[in-house]
Amino acid sequence: MRLEKQADLTALNTFGVPARAELLARFSSVDELRELLAAPELHERPQLVLGGGSNVLFTHDQVGVVLLNEIPGIFVEREAEDHVWVKAGAGVVWHDLVMHAVGKGWGGIENLSLIPGKVGAAPMQNIGAYGAELKDSFHELEALRLSDGERLTFSASACAFGYRESFFKREGRDRFVILGVTLRLDRHPRVHTTYGAIREVLAQRGITDPTIRDVSDAVVSIRRSKLPDPTVLGNAGSFFKNPVVSRQQADAIRRDHPTMVAYPTPDGRVKLAAGWMIEAAGWKGSRQGPCGVHKDQALVLVNHGGATGTMIYDLSEQVLRSVQERFGVTLEREVNIL
Ligand code: FAD
Ligand code: EPU
Repeated sequence: MRLEKQADLTALNTFGVPARAELLARFSSVDELRELLAAPELHERPQLVLGGGSNVLFTHDQVGVVLLNEIPGIFVEREAEDHVWVKAGAGVVWHDLVMHAVGKGWGGIENLSLIPGKVGAAPMQNIGAYGAELKDSFHELEALRLSDGERLTFSASACAFGYRESFFKREGRDRFVILGVTLRLDRHPRVHTTYGAIREVLAQRGITDPTIRDVSDAVVSIRRSKLPDPTVLGNAGSFFKNPVVSRQQADAIRRDHPTMVAYPTPDGRVKLAAGWMIEAAGWKGSRQGPCGVHKDQALVLVNHGGATGTMIYDLSEQVLRSVQERFGVTLEREVNIL
């Protein structure tokens, strides 16, 4: 059993903020996880599962045990004429799974290229980008229930996926360890290029009949140009969700702010661009000591070096209040505050 006491979590979160875990345990199989959970040192202690640490903000030291998920493996579960069912261990790096699928010519997750983190966390907030979400390719997942060690299978409907939401982010929070995820991928893929920026990059490259690799490459280049690399500048991607409001509320805000960026959603409501609102409220590129709001993407809070989780949280609170005062909209944090 690999157990570390008073472990430093600084390098295990992409914000790069300091925090300690009372105990840190790594596991790379279900049996190892079960053994850990049965160990007297860990029994009855609060447990937190961590993947790549790219969607968390540590605001204090973690009491209990941080379980670092390293379950490997990508394998085909089933094949049919049109689809392939691929299972990946929760510890697989998400982008490695995307590259594996793209390499095999299996479509469905290429628009989700380069999202940091591990496979096991992908269902947690139903990761999404550039016109696709995990739920579009999701088949089922396997999870271990912490209360009794039972292994359970969750279908897409049991996961209750929504925009940056799932059962695991709400009622299921801290109750399950996701062990593996099965995706249903297309063997004869159709590319999804509805997102304007993808079309622009493909046009610049003179590509008229794009493959999934072309789409993946385009997404990678868009992401590299827009989002800060956490190995250079600490961040956790979008700090807040884009708020979804009624059409009436969106119309009312637009009367005072005609340039506001907003998109209709399939259910008749309107998604407002939080990045636009934060920029309009004057925060873009601002600094508060060692932390700040990114200069190119106002939805991303950054650690310029030496920030603590509390400093970043305090900044997020000020941003939230100022958007509330200016637009009457309450932003919700996407990042998991721990
Ligand atoms: P962690 O940060 O380790 O964990 C996140 C949460 O999931 C925690 O609450 C944790 O307890 C829980 N968890 C982790 N693993 C498990 C498990 N096996 N079982 C149960 N619970 C678990 N997200 C998007 O959706 N779209 C984007 O475009 C996007 N872009 C990003 C860009 C950058 C630069 C960064 C830094 C982040 C971005 N993110 C994006 C956020 C992040 O990459 C995703 O949320 C990712 O899925 C987090 O994976 P992780 O392994 O790092 O999770
Ligand atoms: N905008 C501004 N100012 C800014 C930032 C954005 O005006 O500082 C405007 C842009 O001009 C654009 C609109 O807001 O018109 C949307 O911006 P962008 O395309 O960059 O996307 P986003 O809404 O900021 C979302 C996701 C990202 C995902 C991208 C691409 C959320 C919370 N964020 O960002 O996901 O990669 O779309 O699909 O939904 C994440 O979840 O961590 C994440 C990075």
